[in-house]
Amino acid sequence: MQQSEQFSRFDESQSISFLEAKEAVAKILQQHLEASQNRNHKVLQQERPEQIAESLQLKKYFNSGFKNLSQLKHFVSNYLKHTNRLNNPRYMGHQVAVPQELSGIPDWIHGTVNNPSSLYEMGPAGATLEAFMINWMLSKLDWFKGTDLYDFSAQKKNGSGLLTHGGSVANLTALSAARAAIAPEAWTEGNPADLVVMGPATVHYSIARALSIMGLGKNAFIPIGVDKNEVILTEQLEQVYQSIKSQNKRVMAVVANACATSTGLFDPLDEMAAFCKKHNLWFHVDGAHGAVALLSKTEKRKVYGIEKADSIIWDAHKMLQVPALCTAVLFKNQIHQWNNFRQKGSYVFHENEVIGMDSMPYTVECTKSALGTKLFWSFALKGEKAMTQFVENSFKQARDLYQYLNSSQDFYCPYPPQSNILCFQFKPNQLSDQNQLALRYKLIESGTFYITSCEILGKRYLRTVLMNPQTNQEDFQALAETITSLGNEILSK
Ligand SMILES: Cc1ncc(COP(=O)(O)O)c(C=O)c1O
Repeated sequence: MQQSEQFSRFDESQSISFLEAKEAVAKILQQHLEASQNRNHKVLQQERPEQIAESLQLKKYFNSGFKNLSQLKHFVSNYLKHTNRLNNPRYMGHQVAVPQELSGIPDWIHGTVNNPSSLYEMGPAGATLEAFMINWMLSKLDWFKGTDLYDFSAQKKNGSGLLTHGGSVANLTALSAARAAIAPEAWTEGNPADLVVMGPATVHYSIARALSIMGLGKNAFIPIGVDKNEVILTEQLEQVYQSIKSQNKRVMAVVANACATSTGLFDPLDEMAAFCKKHNLWFHVDGAHGAVALLSKTEKRKVYGIEKADSIIWDAHKMLQVPALCTAVLFKNQIHQWNNFRQKGSYVFHENEVIGMDSMPYTVECTKSALGTKLFWSFALKGEKAMTQFVENSFKQARDLYQYLNSSQDFYCPYPPQSNILCFQFKPNQLSDQNQLALRYKLIESGTFYITSCEILGKRYLRTVLMNPQTNQEDFQALAETITSLGNEILSK
């Protein structure tokens, strides 16, 4: 029997062979990548959803399926035309990893074997890779006390962790653990009325969401003032804390940004940790974007004190080049992970008989993807040292862009970047907030670049996140020129 026939036919009525389809899709993807990397295509060409649905012939394929390879190829090529090309070095948009060329392979393997890794017996390889990568992450925080990353026995002094589908779920998981620590009865009885969470006014919105989902209500978040660049004013911590106490409320957690989503600036973690220690408060570091500084000897000082946290979240699909989604939730004291969801499903949790490790008892999700496999793969494609270089280079790219824009009188950058996120304005004395936003839309409409925008203390900024190692000085120059030309057009109207 021919090999392609051996694997053939996912349905008797269809005649698409496994190998032919994979090869055809691989070729189309390669062309797509090349065109994107060579800057030969618009980064994003937006069309209305009705047009996309029509052009992809959704109804036809939904009803009758792909009849042959050529229909499948046509669909994939067409699908790619309507994607945002993150691999184009002029993509400088949201904090979503620009994947390495071979990053998609674990998703392909997972999509073929479908081994959710939350139960060891449903995916022993995936669960092992997750545990290995968690050990590695713990070791970066000095929370791994074993001598070998193959030690999966969770020694008593170890921290612990798990992978979950994204930073928002991860923040919810960590805050739920903080609640279990201060009010264990909440799991069965519901929330006591006196719990609040403190943090800079600029925490990611997933913190407020988590509090609402947990039934504390988003007003349970007590914001601490921030400076002109939205970094927490630690001198306010004590006063706010005393005021909370005087209202007979209890602080369930103090949250820090490492780094803040809009600005990419880090809160002073060490100082916040000292405050939490003084009052015996749970310290949660939202390191979704910036925990990655731990990899680099030179950038690590930005997260100085992070290891004093009780819980940390770290998105691998932001700065570790993992395709969405993959986030770690890490606990300094493993007991907090074990106590988080005080619930049992008799069909899954058999404490005495389990070989290996199940993450299911500790995750919001019941079934989850092979997240550890994606994370491990990202390193396996280049090795840890090259990953560190990638991180350092991304941070340097932001400093380079800062220097370039700062050398022109037309651009205003409010602060030197601390990560790979940089905010700036074009001619702030002439272009209003609304026009800064209009400028961003004009830019992305032109397809030449994809950037985002944000507000810092109510003022509108353009925002770049440098995620692609191929983005270079010429791209920065072209960005400045294009913005200048489009900005001046707006001004001339
Ligand atoms: C600081 C911070 N925390 C949490 C999140 C939420 O992460 P996710 O998009 O993976 O849910 C983000 C996303 O940008 C973030 O920047």
